Amino acid sequence: MATLIDEINRRRTFAIISHPDAGKTTLTEKLLLFGGAIHVAGAVKSNKIKKTATSDWMEIEKQRGISVATSVMGFNYGDYKINILDTPGHQDFAEDTYRTLTAVDSVIIVVDVAKGVEQQTRKLMEVCRMRNTPVIIFVNKLDREGRDPFEILDELEAELKISVRPLSWPINIGAKFKGVYNIYENSLDLFTPSKTQVTERVEIESVDDPRIDEAVGEKDAAKLREDLELIEGVYPEFDEKEYLAGKVAPVFFGSALNTFGVKELLDCFVKIAPAPRAVMAEEREVNPQEEPFSGFVFKIHANMDPNHRSCIAFVKVCSGKFERNANYKHVRSGKMMRFAAPTAFMAQKKSIVDEAYPGDIVGIPDTGNFKIGDTLSSGENLHYKGLPSFSPEMFKYIENTDPMKSKQLEKGIQQLMDEGVAQLFTNQFNGRKIIGTVGQLQFEVIQYRLLHEYGATVRWEPISLYKACWIESDDADALEAFKKRKHQFMAIDRDGRDVFLADSNYVLQMAQNDFPKIRFHFTSEF
Ligand code: G4P
Repeated sequence: MATLIDEINRRRTFAIISHPDAGKTTLTEKLLLFGGAIHVAGAVKSNKIKKTATSDWMEIEKQRGISVATSVMGFNYGDYKINILDTPGHQDFAEDTYRTLTAVDSVIIVVDVAKGVEQQTRKLMEVCRMRNTPVIIFVNKLDREGRDPFEILDELEAELKISVRPLSWPINIGAKFKGVYNIYENSLDLFTPSKTQVTERVEIESVDDPRIDEAVGEKDAAKLREDLELIEGVYPEFDEKEYLAGKVAPVFFGSALNTFGVKELLDCFVKIAPAPRAVMAEEREVNPQEEPFSGFVFKIHANMDPNHRSCIAFVKVCSGKFERNANYKHVRSGKMMRFAAPTAFMAQKKSIVDEAYPGDIVGIPDTGNFKIGDTLSSGENLHYKGLPSFSPEMFKYIENTDPMKSKQLEKGIQQLMDEGVAQLFTNQFNGRKIIGTVGQLQFEVIQYRLLHEYGATVRWEPISLYKACWIESDDADALEAFKKRKHQFMAIDRDGRDVFLADSNYVLQMAQNDFPKIRFHFTSEF
């Protein structure tokens, strides 16, 4: 019988992240294909909300539905149990992605060979860096004209601020693309464009093997040898420990659409990527091997059906074995709870599970008990540290347009904020509520969901704000003086903490100069 430790060691829980259109969905699908979780290409629907969909409500609803189904994709690959956590492609939902990154043990970043590192990738990498998450990079679309691979490597290092180490190397790119040399395994894979077929492998002894010349021609073989020599000269040997510490990122090249280079990536990934590791709670470090169960909620997904106002809370198991119908403590409320219908996500299907292990994600049907970041445990008072809320980038006053529905509105706003859709601030001067988001689309989603799920109608009113920052001071008088001077711009967040609403960068800088005893924070955890 497999022990808890065996179960932990065979788990690989990760997310694929990229700038929209780099090929995240395509790569995910190909990984599922290898895992036997799907049998035909095209079975995974992209959950990205296309740019044109900003005002297409049905589209958003459809997309939300799809993203429930594809939130977690679990499958077995050889002896390994793989859990891919999906992240929204649209940048307006970046907060969702940040939170998902708190639940993964490693990350694969997809980069388009022609476009290189794009804005969204840079931001997501920052979050990985904050958490020392191990990262593997897949340079995609080698079948298209793109940039020189050495140039791409330099750009990855400079832009993502991480050392890189190629573990495979392309032979030409674009129309002349012939294949990749697998440095990790010393093998050669020849490129045959195909959406479903797997690579043709040439057995070789070493890089000097004449079979390489036969396969790709003398000229390209010579160039390959030259490139590999340069790589060995420039980049230190691949060191697994450095990768696990988040200090160096192995790089693979391929074409997700053509299923090329994907198996190599997957085979190396399962070998080197970390199994679930110890997690820091506020109280102490928790090891996955510990017998008592513990886990935390990293995502809450509202039900698609407005008649059933229930949600699914996604719990990442951090230690011990999770069991159906066992009694667990919801640490924030102190209540004991039992879950009769927890679900797991295997091969794109959601089904009730009896047990789950560290690294697994369990979906728990919820009627509003959970908040993002909540900890569940076998009894111990543990608080897992989540990711802080970042200061939002866009702000609007939210106004009720139907006084008969103010109760529903209250409830709706509360629930959506628990789900982490946006942040709420209450202006202390005029009592008005301000919603802060990272993207325009969230305002539209909130308005739509308030109407369809809570029957509340709202209107947005503009407010010109640069940043909301959390303030504190060791000097109570200084804090009072600041609040008095800035009383029109003071708000509180949902936890009752003081927030200063700066309407411009200049005003913020002046405030920082004039009030040296006040500390200004741009994330909610300090
Ligand atoms: P995303 O989830 O990162 O946003 O990207 P997605 O996989 O949806 O891929 C974006 C586009 O790039 C898709 O084309 C996809 O077919 C294409 N693509 C992905 N991998 C490769 C590759 O290796 N080579 C080439 N040439 N193209 C690739 P689309 O036209 O936007 O969508 P679709 O209609 O083909 O699905």
